[in-house]
Amino acid sequence: MVPMNRLDEVRRRHAAAEKGGGLERQARQHKEGKLSARERIELLLDENSFEELDKLVSHRCHDFGMESQVIPGDGFITGYGRVEGRLVYVFAQDFTVFGGSLSGANAQKICKIMDLAMKTGAPVVGLNDSGGARIQEGVLSLAGYADIFLRNTLSSGVIPQISAIMGPCAGGAVYSPAITDFIFMVENTSYMFVTGPDVIKTVTHEDVTKEKLGGSMTHNSLSGVGHFIAADDAECLRMIRALLGYLPQNNREDAPRRATTDPADRMDPALDTLIPAESNRPYDMKDVIRRVVDDGEFFEVHEHYAKNLVIGFAHMDGRSIGVVANQPAFLAGCLDINSSDKGARFVRFCDAFNIPLVTFEDVPGFLPGTEQEFGGIIRHGAKLLFAFAEATVPKITIITRKAYGGAYCVMGSKHIRTDVNLAWPSAEIAVMGAEGAVNILYRDLPPAERQEKVSEFNDRFANPFIAAEHGFIDDVIEPRETRPRVIRALRMLETKVDTMPRKKHGNIPL
Ligand code: HXC
Repeated sequence: MVPMNRLDEVRRRHAAAEKGGGLERQARQHKEGKLSARERIELLLDENSFEELDKLVSHRCHDFGMESQVIPGDGFITGYGRVEGRLVYVFAQDFTVFGGSLSGANAQKICKIMDLAMKTGAPVVGLNDSGGARIQEGVLSLAGYADIFLRNTLSSGVIPQISAIMGPCAGGAVYSPAITDFIFMVENTSYMFVTGPDVIKTVTHEDVTKEKLGGSMTHNSLSGVGHFIAADDAECLRMIRALLGYLPQNNREDAPRRATTDPADRMDPALDTLIPAESNRPYDMKDVIRRVVDDGEFFEVHEHYAKNLVIGFAHMDGRSIGVVANQPAFLAGCLDINSSDKGARFVRFCDAFNIPLVTFEDVPGFLPGTEQEFGGIIRHGAKLLFAFAEATVPKITIITRKAYGGAYCVMGSKHIRTDVNLAWPSAEIAVMGAEGAVNILYRDLPPAERQEKVSEFNDRFANPFIAAEHGFIDDVIEPRETRPRVIRALRMLETKVDTMPRKKHGNIPL
């Protein structure tokens, strides 16, 4: 029989771990509109599925009076549970314990679940609310972060890694998420920076608020570091659950199939009239996407960043797909530096995790100008090209309108081993727009004759038929048929096997 006093000791230690940094600090967390670390885990996981590990681990620091401030668990809650019945590892930093800062001890806790996640092939979700390396522990906490960074890197492409930023996060608490696949942020309560406003003031004399420097919109619209923005903690955790539903557990599995009542052979006549008659009038590519995928449900990634390219997950025929689409409603759908980075990273994620790519194309080319050239559009655009070319998952491209120049090659063209290429009758596949072409080839002609040449160019090139004659387009289809045709292609490609030449790894132009 276990002695009573030993049972009491277990209960006392567990209760101390659950109390974290104390009621006062917990109340402050709630007052700021944030949930506690334990509440977050409860909402993230299926009911009663959480199994905590290392609840009784404590730090071993004896400097700066730390020996008298020992809290079991040391401010990190780690363990595993289920999301829609599927295994997920999770850690949550408790800001009430030394600002959620990382000690050597709780770095070991995180590494323990990351190692288990790799062995069992399941995603890791990190709920970050942390001031970074624990200052009192010096190099021990830096070493702890480096141990985590290594595991983040080795796990990349093997298991999905998802980060939520749910408080002020600095230092290692932003670098580890940066290596993971997706970053969620919460409006008004989450911040990410390498160093905060106070240090910036000292070093560069800049005055900047926390919100402007590293708030959710800064990272979702300006820096592109954040992929998703949620109104509050609860919504953030719901969104993570939804994202996991599109992903496989690891790179050896397929994403789960989802039941749908949306017929695979559903035609949509509205697509026939969706493209405006004038070639330079915008339309919203998201309308096209929603009309084609299952149940009109599109889970957009990076919604606020580089809006000229739309990326996200959807289902077709119950299968998870990654959508990459030019957006004519923003910058005319031109590819620029940010959209190239955005697209390349997403394409590589889908390729790593066996998620077929469906590309909707309407692109007049790369955005011209000194800003883009000086910023290295050549290098950045090359990333997107590289990512599409190396991807071996099933790839399907639908050209809805423009496919001009280098952007034609980049956006899942046949030549970079796309499996099925379809075009709508409105497709224009050419080296450039007719006006541009005539301005180069016939710049000395009087305006009336130039106009004639423009018409001639349009008649000759502003269509999909030459590409179809060469077999670069597999078929020109009626827009209404898009869903059934894509689904048939996906079914055909279900057993696709394609490989890369033997190599250690490629050298994507970063
Ligand atoms: C130990 C810390 C801490 C840290 C915060 N605290 N950060 N304790 N180590 N890194 C403690 C505070 O002392 C305080 O304790 C409590 O947490 C809450 O912090 P506040 O400052 O009161 O909160 P707030 O005003 O909301 O500001 C949050 C913050 C700020 C923006 C995160 O605390 C901050 O700037 N912290 C330092 C960030 C930083 O520079 N970290 C090191 C990064 S280097 P009490 O007892 O008062 O409640 C790093 C290296 C990794 O991480 C390698 C990267 C490549």
